[in-house]
Amino acid sequence: MSSEDRTEKGRGGEGPEDRGRSGKGSIERGGSVAIRRGTPCDADVRAVREMELACFRHPWSEVTIAESLSSPACVFLLAEAEGSFAGSACAWMIPPFECQVGNIGVMPGFRRRGVAEALMVALRAEAEKAGIAEMFLEVRVSNAPARALYEKLGFTTVDIRKKYYENTEDALVMRLSLGAPGDDR
Ligand SMILES: CC(C)(COP(=O)(O)OP(=O)(O)OC[C@H]1O[C@@H](n2cnc3c(N)ncnc32)[C@H](O)[C@@H]1OP(=O)(O)O)[C@@H](O)C(=O)NCCC(=O)NCCS
Repeated sequence: MSSEDRTEKGRGGEGPEDRGRSGKGSIERGGSVAIRRGTPCDADVRAVREMELACFRHPWSEVTIAESLSSPACVFLLAEAEGSFAGSACAWMIPPFECQVGNIGVMPGFRRRGVAEALMVALRAEAEKAGIAEMFLEVRVSNAPARALYEKLGFTTVDIRKKYYENTEDALVMRLSLGAPGDDR
């Protein structure tokens, strides 16, 4: 699989109208979300595929999902809320410097309840634990919900990739420093 397959190129979410280890994050608007590491079992592959189909115009195949869930370099997290799969996120850890966020998506029925924020906070914790200095991601210029999420978490735009996506839309490259508390957060 190429590195392009693993990133948001050609994806980046659907825009403003878009529809192992464990930890707990709270959902401000009621209930709680449980975050756990995914495994390449059928159930996790199917759940992530369901998210891909619901969230992206160019969903990852089950093969790509299984490869990513199996990769030691990839931290793949699944979120569950109210007993159901709610979303997932993954990132490639390249110690000591870089973490590249690969994809994040929340099932439409679970949006605006803090699921993505809990997933991103858990990914950041994994990157910090690995001693990584910076997180990077790409996002479509038109994807207002995702941009708002990343900005809320302290990511800042450091570059623009012109005509990056299949429809010639630009990508914003966003970065978060994982230094001492207070850095870029
Ligand atoms: C972007 C996405 C992951 C957000 O998931 P979510 O679980 O609904 O987000 P959260 O509830 O955790 O929101 C956290 C913050 O993100 C921002 N945000 C999320 N959705 C937003 C929206 N529709 N409009 C404006 N801000 C939004 C807000 O700042 C929010 O904080 P707040 O609730 O205190 O205002 C979700 O909309 C999604 O799956 N979209 C399709 C796939 C996609 O675009 N992925 C990103 C590719 S780069």
